[in-house]
Amino acid sequence: MVDYNGRLSTVYTAGRGMTADEVKRWTDAFQAHLPGERPLTLLDLGSGTGRLTPGLAEAFGGPVYGVEPSDRMREIAETTAAHPDVVYRKGSAEAIPLPEASVDGVLMFLSFHHYRDQPKALEEVRRVLKPGGVAFLRSQFADLMPDLFWYDYFPSAREVDAGMYLSLDAAKRLARQAGLEPADDVVWVHTELPRTLRESYDRLELRALSTFEHLPDDEIEEGFTRLAADADRDPDKQMPVHPAAMLALRSHPR
Ligand SMILES: C[S@@+](CC[C@H](N)C(=O)[O-])C[C@H]1O[C@@H](n2cnc3c(N)ncnc32)[C@H](O)[C@@H]1O
Repeated sequence: MVDYNGRLSTVYTAGRGMTADEVKRWTDAFQAHLPGERPLTLLDLGSGTGRLTPGLAEAFGGPVYGVEPSDRMREIAETTAAHPDVVYRKGSAEAIPLPEASVDGVLMFLSFHHYRDQPKALEEVRRVLKPGGVAFLRSQFADLMPDLFWYDYFPSAREVDAGMYLSLDAAKRLARQAGLEPADDVVWVHTELPRTLRESYDRLELRALSTFEHLPDDEIEEGFTRLAADADRDPDKQMPVHPAAMLALRSHPR
């Protein structure tokens, strides 16, 4: 399990912050699958520091519930990502503190791989979704992993990352078992901003990605030494960007 109450919470915003434009690209991607009426009630499940939560309220009118088990991540959200139509609540995906059929959409944004009990969590998602509501599984999938440039610096990172995620078929199977019908195709969302090697290094070296929680110290040290040297040599090099994978899951009418 990754501890989001400690060091990770202190570096998350600096290491993984999104610009308003990136948030907007995400809400546009969700909009394509959600009903046209406004307002919509949404749940940001594993809302962390509230990177996306106020943006959801802006785009869809709210209320938006940000449910998050880590006290520290939630406190940061409450102080830095407050919005009149957002309510942050302590809770987990396995026990969502909302009534049955109460939300139009659920966002699981890079939180699903942290859930202790994924089948139970998907049952809970189905319980709180209104019939016909949509859940968004923004995740990596073990068989669709992006070829991130920094994997070359940390020899076990690629395997560690792939080991955290289900394959696309396994994720679809779990969703169906919970009464959520996956769309046939993964949606590829283009939101990542182009960054230079220096900018990429500055974010990476904060180790705000949970991958680094699973790597040995010597591998981390060696990797960052090599990466720092390359960033000094060629700071303006433009690094490749990758589209992000997302699966839309629709709740069957009961
Ligand atoms: C990588 S962060 C993503 C946070 C946010 N969704 C974002 O994109 O910035 C993963 C989050 O999942 C949360 N999490 C871990 N276990 C969870 C669970 N069982 N139910 C809900 N959220 C969980 C963590 O506390 C953490 O805030």
